[in-house]
Amino acid sequence: MVRGELEPLPDQMVLVRNLFMSVDPYMRGRMNEGQSYIPPFALGKPLEGGAVGEVVESRTKEFKIGDVVTSNLGWREYFMAPPKALRVVNHEVQPLSVYLGALGMTGMTAWAGLNLVEVKAGDVIYISGAAGAVGNVAGQLAKLRRCKVIGSAGSMEKVRFLREECGFDIAFDYKTGPVIEQLNVEVPDGIDVYFDNVGGETLEAALSVLKIHGRIIACGGISNYNDGKARPGPSNLFNVTTKRLTMKGMIVGDWLGRQGEFEKEAGGYFRAGKLKNHETVVEGLDQAVDAFFGLFAGKNMGKMVVKLA
Ligand SMILES: NC(=O)c1ccc[n+]([C@@H]2O[C@H](COP(=O)([O-])OP(=O)(O)OC[C@H]3O[C@@H](n4cnc5c(N)ncnc54)[C@H](OP(=O)(O)O)[C@@H]3O)[C@@H](O)[C@H]2O)c1
Repeated sequence: MVRGELEPLPDQMVLVRNLFMSVDPYMRGRMNEGQSYIPPFALGKPLEGGAVGEVVESRTKEFKIGDVVTSNLGWREYFMAPPKALRVVNHEVQPLSVYLGALGMTGMTAWAGLNLVEVKAGDVIYISGAAGAVGNVAGQLAKLRRCKVIGSAGSMEKVRFLREECGFDIAFDYKTGPVIEQLNVEVPDGIDVYFDNVGGETLEAALSVLKIHGRIIACGGISNYNDGKARPGPSNLFNVTTKRLTMKGMIVGDWLGRQGEFEKEAGGYFRAGKLKNHETVVEGLDQAVDAFFGLFAGKNMGKMVVKLA
């Protein structure tokens, strides 16, 4: 943690006080060396990540004091940035952390994933990591598309949350027994779509229960992010051939061209009370590292956010 004095604000710059910052599993990947879809964090430099803040001073014509903005300049309480690093959002929407959750990057990931494999009415979809930020929104949106929705998460409390607050048809605790056995009991006729947030053993189980022409949204693999060495893939990958499965990888950043479409659809559902923003809020920049670690220990229900103000 570094404390510094702010310089006077230069011309054409905006001073923002962050209100909420995001911690996300993908940040773990940025702590490894080597090439990926996003560069590693630089040693000795502040971390980066999603944030929502308010403009406290502006020397630009684009922004005024009191504007609420999103940025990729989290992990800090204040920052100065040019207008192009900021995006104004509706300050009347509460809580403003929704712009990190259901109406933010994680909500858009859920929406993009469903569009990626054209999830439609009648599909039976299984979502792993279901009680997390992406998972709970994917489940709610799939219900709005009139799918049958199954979710797995790491505690009975989360299972209840999925059934009672997110509208999942079926939910189970993946820690109480092998995923494949639980899926065989819960969905004996198989699934059409698997929304993969965790990879590993869960992906292997899903490959076994997918129906012919089933689709996989390869969104995340958190069960392996802390592995020092990559493990061999699913032993039953040949199901892709025998069942003519489609597995599509996605990175939400590729969907920025459709952000307006997402905001219109998800924003409409949110205002109508059909899409709920679920979150776990931790307070203080000094708690941000623990909040990040908490993602890997399942400490969050819904989006994990850090409140800074
Ligand atoms: N492709 C993209 O563009 C994109 C964008 C955003 C996120 N993602 C990916 O989507 C996934 C979910 O992200 P999120 O932001 O919504 O995080 P999240 O689900 O809110 O938080 C992580 C959750 O993962 C679960 N978890 C942790 N270790 C696990 C393990 N070993 N096995 C199974 N589950 C484990 C925990 O819940 P339990 O208590 O249920 O274990 C934890 O709450 C991540 O894999 C992330 O990298 C991808």
